[in-house]
Amino acid sequence: MPVQAGTCLVRWETVCSEELIDREVQRMAKAEKDKPLGAGKSSFDLIDSQAVFGELGLQRGSTFLDVACGRGDYTLAASKAVRKSGLIYAVDLWEEGIATLQEKAAAQGIENIEALVCDVGKKIPLETGRVDVCLMSTVLHDLVQTGDVDGTLKEVGRVLKSQGSLAVIEFKKIDGPPGPPISVRLTPDETESLVLPHGFRKKRTLDVGLYNYMMTFGLT
Ligand SMILES: C[S@@+](CC[C@H](N)C(=O)[O-])C[C@H]1O[C@@H](n2cnc3c(N)ncnc32)[C@H](O)[C@@H]1O
Repeated sequence: MPVQAGTCLVRWETVCSEELIDREVQRMAKAEKDKPLGAGKSSFDLIDSQAVFGELGLQRGSTFLDVACGRGDYTLAASKAVRKSGLIYAVDLWEEGIATLQEKAAAQGIENIEALVCDVGKKIPLETGRVDVCLMSTVLHDLVQTGDVDGTLKEVGRVLKSQGSLAVIEFKKIDGPPGPPISVRLTPDETESLVLPHGFRKKRTLDVGLYNYMMTFGLT
């Protein structure tokens, strides 16, 4: 039977688009499987942002680092506090989160955010003594699970200026939701004992909403 050109074209396009869909489904399944612990979750909508940003003390021109920034809700808020002369670094292992942050920053015309994909337990790609204020929001308990706490805090201590400060936000050890299971939540005492061995001294613990507390540290 003679082949009709139009029919072939339609069939070929169908095969191609089925293959493309298959590939995209596989890519999405892999991305979902490889998601770092806690990816896609944020505490930003739960916290009292005035209390958090008041305590962080970001100034015009400060350099801020958001460790495990996710989609960067805290990053975007911090970029407003440091104004155009300040610099914001945001790092996360989750590529989709970093891509979303870059898109949001571009859409809002924000130019002082550098968002990078990296494993903070291995290396934070910044020079030593670069950062005034570092935030680790609702990630320390995840790093306990993955065994990345020590590597991360060592890197945070390295990139902070000698007068710099670290703020850790965690979920209160109460039954959720919202938040992770109570078994993985950290009490303020547990948070303190994870952080202090890495050359930090505790400054303050404060309540930053119904579900969260924040603890601040300086370098010893
Ligand atoms: C619960 S989310 C918190 C996100 C953000 N701090 C917030 O509160 O909006 C934890 C984040 O840690 C990231 N993460 C987990 N392990 C990591 C690692 N080893 N290096 C970098 N990021 C990591 C996850 O991808 C996720 O975005």
